[in-house]
Amino acid sequence: MENLIPESEFEKIAKAFNGDFLFLRSKTILVTGGTGLVGRYLLSFLAFIEDHYHLNLHVIALGRSQPKFSHLLPEVSNRPDVRFVEQDIQKPIAIDTKLDSIIHLASNASPALCAVEPISTELTCIVGTNNLLALASQNPGCRFLMASSGDVYGSPSASGIRFKESDFGSVDCGSLHSVYSEGKRAAETLCHAYQQEKQVDFVIARLCRIFGPTLSESDNKGISDFIRNAAKKEPLVLKSSGLQTYSYMYVGDIVAALLFLLKNGQSGETYNVANNSTLLSLRELALFISSQTSVPVSFLAQEAKNKPSGYSSFSGSVLDTSKIESLGFSSLFEIKPSLLSTISLLEKDSRKEN
Ligand SMILES: NC(=O)c1ccc[n+]([C@@H]2O[C@H](COP(=O)([O-])OP(=O)(O)OC[C@H]3O[C@@H](n4cnc5c(N)ncnc54)[C@H](O)[C@@H]3O)[C@@H](O)[C@H]2O)c1
Repeated sequence: MENLIPESEFEKIAKAFNGDFLFLRSKTILVTGGTGLVGRYLLSFLAFIEDHYHLNLHVIALGRSQPKFSHLLPEVSNRPDVRFVEQDIQKPIAIDTKLDSIIHLASNASPALCAVEPISTELTCIVGTNNLLALASQNPGCRFLMASSGDVYGSPSASGIRFKESDFGSVDCGSLHSVYSEGKRAAETLCHAYQQEKQVDFVIARLCRIFGPTLSESDNKGISDFIRNAAKKEPLVLKSSGLQTYSYMYVGDIVAALLFLLKNGQSGETYNVANNSTLLSLRELALFISSQTSVPVSFLAQEAKNKPSGYSSFSGSVLDTSKIESLGFSSLFEIKPSLLSTISLLEKDSRKEN
C-alpha cells in the first residue's frame, strides 16, 4: 500500500537536519503510541531515514493492538528493523533489548476519550509514564523524551498571553475536565523525580494542538473534526462561539521537533512546541477551511454548553516558542497550506482505522 505521507515531506524534514542523523546510528528506540497521529508519522519517517541514510536503527513500537498497527502502518509493520510489542502501558513493561531512547507518545489525547475513560486517561499519563521511566532507569544512558501538552498551563488568565515554560498555569484539580492536564502535569513531575533519584536523562516537549493526515478516528478536537468533515464534504460544525485561539502545528513539524529535541534538548529541560506564524481562532479556522473547500459551517453554540466532562474548558492556549527556537529549531510547514494538503490526503486515504 502506498505511504499516506508524501515522500517530499520526509525529504524536507531530512534536509532541515542536513541529513545528519548520526545521533540515531546503531540505536534502538522505543516508541509508545505508534498508531496515533504523531506516532504513525514518526514511525514512517524513521523508516524513511533508515532506508535513505542506512543508520542500522532499530525501532520497537509499543501499542495495544498488533492488528491495528499492521492495518495503519503496513509499510512499517513488515520491516525487519521494526518490532511491535503489544501491551497497555498501565501494566509494568519488560523489554529485554537495550534501549538508547524512549519517545513516549501514548496517551488518551482525544477529548471524547478523556470524557468516557477519565480513569484510564489519568492513569495512562501517571502509571504509564511511571512504567516507562522505570524502564528508562534500567537502561543506563537511555534518553526519555516525553510528549506533554500545553494543557498543563490550563486557561490563560487574559487574552494575548503566551505561556512560557516557566509559567505554572492554573488547572482545577477538582474538575473532571482536568484528568488529561493533571495527568500530564504529574507525568512531567515524575520525569524530574526519576532524574533526581535514578539519574534518568529526560526532555519534555509540551506540544500544542496538532493536525495531520494520520489523525486517529477517535480524535475529535475541533480542528480534527473540521478536517475530517471537509474531507467528507460534510458541514463543519462549530460547537461554541469559536473565539478560543490555540497554537497549532502540522504533525510533520511535531515529528521534526521531537527528533530535534531528542538530539539537542538539554537534559531535564522542558520545551514548548508550536507554530505561531499563523494564529487562528477556532471560528477563523472553520471559516478558512470552508472558504477553501466550499463546505459550509454550521453553528451549534447552544449545544456546547452541555459538553460532557472531560472536554477541555480552556479559553484557548498559545505557547511561547522562544526556548526551542533559541536552540535552532524553526517550523517547516505553514499552517494554512498544511491544512489544505491534510484534507486532500484524507480525501484519497482508504486506510481507515478498524
Ligand atoms: N494531538 C494533539 O493535539 C496533542 C496536543 C498536545 C499533546 N499531545 C500529546 O502527544 C502525544 C501523541 O498524541 P497523538 O495526537 O498522536 O495521540 P493519539 O490519540 O492520536 O494517539 C495516542 C496513542 O496512544 C495509545 N495509547 C493510549 N493509551 C494507551 C495505553 N494505556 N497503553 C498503550 N497505548 C496507549 C493509543 O492507542 C494511540 O496509539 C500524546 O502524549 C498526547 O497527549 C497531543
